[in-house]
Amino acid sequence: MPNKFHLAQYTMLPVTHHSTATWKHPRNMKGGYQFDRPEVWQHMAQVCERAKFDFFFSADTEGIYEEYQDSYKPSVRYAAQVPCFDTATIMCWIAAATSKIGVVQTTSTAAIPPYIVARRMATFDHLSNGRAGVNIVTAFHKSASKNLGVQLDDYHHKHDSRYNRADEFMEVCYQLWDSWDKDAVVENVAGDMFADPEKVHAINFKGEYFDVAGPLNVHRSPQGRPLIVQAGQSTRGIEFAAKHAEAVFTIQRDHAGMKRYHDKLKNKMIEFGRDPDSCKVFYGLQVFVGETEEIARAKASLHNAMVTDEAGMTMLSGHLSHDLAREDPDATVAGIEVSGLQGLIDAYRDSISESDAKLREIAHHHGVSVSVPQVVGDAEQVADWMAETMEAVGGDGFLLSPAYIPGSTEEFCELVIPILQARELVRDKYIDGTLRDNLLAF
Ligand SMILES: Cc1cc2nc3c(=O)[nH]c(=O)nc-3n(C[C@H](O)[C@H](O)[C@H](O)COP(=O)(O)O)c2cc1C
Repeated sequence: MPNKFHLAQYTMLPVTHHSTATWKHPRNMKGGYQFDRPEVWQHMAQVCERAKFDFFFSADTEGIYEEYQDSYKPSVRYAAQVPCFDTATIMCWIAAATSKIGVVQTTSTAAIPPYIVARRMATFDHLSNGRAGVNIVTAFHKSASKNLGVQLDDYHHKHDSRYNRADEFMEVCYQLWDSWDKDAVVENVAGDMFADPEKVHAINFKGEYFDVAGPLNVHRSPQGRPLIVQAGQSTRGIEFAAKHAEAVFTIQRDHAGMKRYHDKLKNKMIEFGRDPDSCKVFYGLQVFVGETEEIARAKASLHNAMVTDEAGMTMLSGHLSHDLAREDPDATVAGIEVSGLQGLIDAYRDSISESDAKLREIAHHHGVSVSVPQVVGDAEQVADWMAETMEAVGGDGFLLSPAYIPGSTEEFCELVIPILQARELVRDKYIDGTLRDNLLAF
């Protein structure tokens, strides 16, 4: 039997998370919800909290994919992760409606100076009472870079230099989060001292990219620093994760890919002198569960038939930073060089056999779930698959990707969670502590 594993909920608010069919699925927003109002997201986070998920996550980006046909118009038409809410804003609504579950937002190291991120996350950690996490991304697509005024030649096309900058970005944040000692706030009315000035320190950071004086103007938060999350899959991305991350997301299509990623990351952590258990690996997963296998299969078929090749091409072009309209849809992906999600194309190359490695099919897979594996079955079958996967891969958990909102999450929590809890494979209660305490509890 595998060890206990972790669960988290993926979203990219508010319309298209991984599936390009979500917005038009007949079960989407069932219950009278509206995608651009907070109630549905608060409800979903509450469902996850009742099921004792580690955290609720929202991805983010600062632009509309404009690679496919060299235009943003296909993305707008097919809702290819647009509209995209500002994650920092929506996550406050979610944190306010929950009390135990972790709340992980996304920030780009290209978008905002590290001081602003350090301050925002310290504030969020206070207000959520130690439940804050931040997914660190480097702004991987062209329009985000253009919207942020980042020179494409200097930044976007130099994959590894984005991570060099992100390394320094993190160092600045760490120093700012540490700029208030734990006992700096004394609230000594008799001595007329709110905080002890000797316990609050300037950082005077001067690096290659950043020049930051500090100290932070927010006192030390419950977790000291938010939980650091990352999702790079390239060699340089994994190196960054091994250095900084406490949770990572990865999209791997099969057990072999998962195991390869898991071992690569954990070995890199050991090389850097970190305990490999101090960073948990979450594998993306799209579940269709029903009272019977037949019902589940019908749900998956309905969903998959709603995905069009064009929508898949649009999203994949965005994720790869490459106009796939210029490629032959019936050719294989073997020769395509990309500057976007390198790890993603590597995963496709590694896992798809020669016979079905055609661009058209890959684009369809991408439109269905961004290549997150689809698991279809009754609740026992889904639970079995999850247990077998953890056994084969060695940990640490799953990031659930919804096909329709809030039904996918409700069905999983109603049908699968009781089985996983009865088998003692997932937690059935939170410990009294922070997001980090809960994540490190097993
Ligand atoms: C599950 C998952 C979620 C991601 N979420 C985001 C996101 O919210 N915003 C973003 O800009 N990049 C996101 N990415 C991309 C990566 O974080 C990364 O910054 C970048 O694309 C470089 O990846 P690479 O190391 O694989 O080349 C995500 C990737 C994965 C696999």
